[in-house]
Amino acid sequence: MYKNILVTGGTGYIGSHTVVELITAGYTPIIVDNLSNSKADVVDRIEKITGVRPAFYPYDINDAESLRKVFSSHKIDSVIHFAGLKAVGESVALPLKYYRNNITGTVTLIEVMKEYQVKSLVFSSSATVYGDPEVVPITEEAKVGGCTNPYGKTKYFIEEILKDVYVSDNSFDIALLRYFNPVGAHESGLIGENPNGIPNNLMPYITQVAIGKRPHLNVFGNDYDTHDGTGVRDYIHVVDLAKGHICALKKLEKEANGVFIYNLGTGKGYSVLDMVKAFSKVLGRPLPYQIAPRRAGDIATCYADPTLAEKELGFKAVYDLEKMCADSWHFQQCLKDEE
Ligand code: NAD
Ligand code: UD1
Repeated sequence: MYKNILVTGGTGYIGSHTVVELITAGYTPIIVDNLSNSKADVVDRIEKITGVRPAFYPYDINDAESLRKVFSSHKIDSVIHFAGLKAVGESVALPLKYYRNNITGTVTLIEVMKEYQVKSLVFSSSATVYGDPEVVPITEEAKVGGCTNPYGKTKYFIEEILKDVYVSDNSFDIALLRYFNPVGAHESGLIGENPNGIPNNLMPYITQVAIGKRPHLNVFGNDYDTHDGTGVRDYIHVVDLAKGHICALKKLEKEANGVFIYNLGTGKGYSVLDMVKAFSKVLGRPLPYQIAPRRAGDIATCYADPTLAEKELGFKAVYDLEKMCADSWHFQQCLKDEE
């Protein structure tokens, strides 16, 4: 049985929720995060929620010597690897920064894992590896690699690298988890997504409009081939997503050796206007929005076929859109109270 789980990127949005779920499930998470996109006080918040303070190292995964210190101090059973940069627009402007951080960082991590005979890994991949899907819902069998930006390409390349690592050493146990669109926050309001600057993603933009930080939401395009013309996505509550990682660990624990690939989504597609409607209901007033031009690189529709994760991992997302909106909104209000 696994006990000590190294969580790279563990103070980030998805990582912090997963650390909470790991503690709740009886594991001992050890966090490595260079705080490039998160704050050290997340560790205090995790302790507040769970009553347990996880070990935390403010290290960069590109720094092998620092990683060795962590592997020497803890007998690591498995690694959940979230650490990475994720801003699509920035990746177009600064591709080498993304290739260095995400790809070289992952290679360094795997090299150190091998030195310490740690061969169990859960990797944060993304539905972005499917590019513009030919068919929805998207199964894990769908074609991958049509990514239009360097961020997406790092996810695709890392998946390929990890498959090669397994071919070279069949004693590895690897889960590639392809996330759809994580939203929501822990219901305590203590952890959630708090992007710097203008949010790129829909839900943080909506909550900033609701709190009065921005005048209105720009709906990027209303002429897509969807039920109301706006883009359709598979939004999944971050707590559900976090639990998916526990399911993946349990799979690797009992069924060793292989590269296992799973979509983590709900299987339901909602449009931007569906999101506006659901959020307005939670808010108790209409959310102001305007129709704006399409955003470059966007696709019309993307949602998962979640059947394989349910069958093989016993994973099923349970939180609905109303809960996703309510928890996102609660977190935004808690942030405001802290200001
Ligand atoms: P996040 O930015 O909140 O968390 C990533 C964390 O990794 C941050 O705390 C950051 O400080 C840390 N980090 C980055 N580079 C590092 C390095 N070199 N060394 C150590 N720490 C480093 O992002 P998130 O939304 O929690 O995403 C986690 C992972 O899931 C990322 O790999 C992301 O690409 C992937 N993912 C996210 C989404 C999404 O919509 N949020 C969707 C699909 C996949
Ligand atoms: C984004 C990332 C993608 C990542 C995925 C999962 C971009 C371009 N792509 O995709 O790489 O894998 O998240 O987290 O960032 N929208 C608006 N107005 C806004 C913001 C978004 O109308 O202000 C629309 C978009 O056009 C889209 C939907 O809302 O139809 C969701 O957008 P977003 O939250 O950015 O996620 P993705 O585009 O799916």
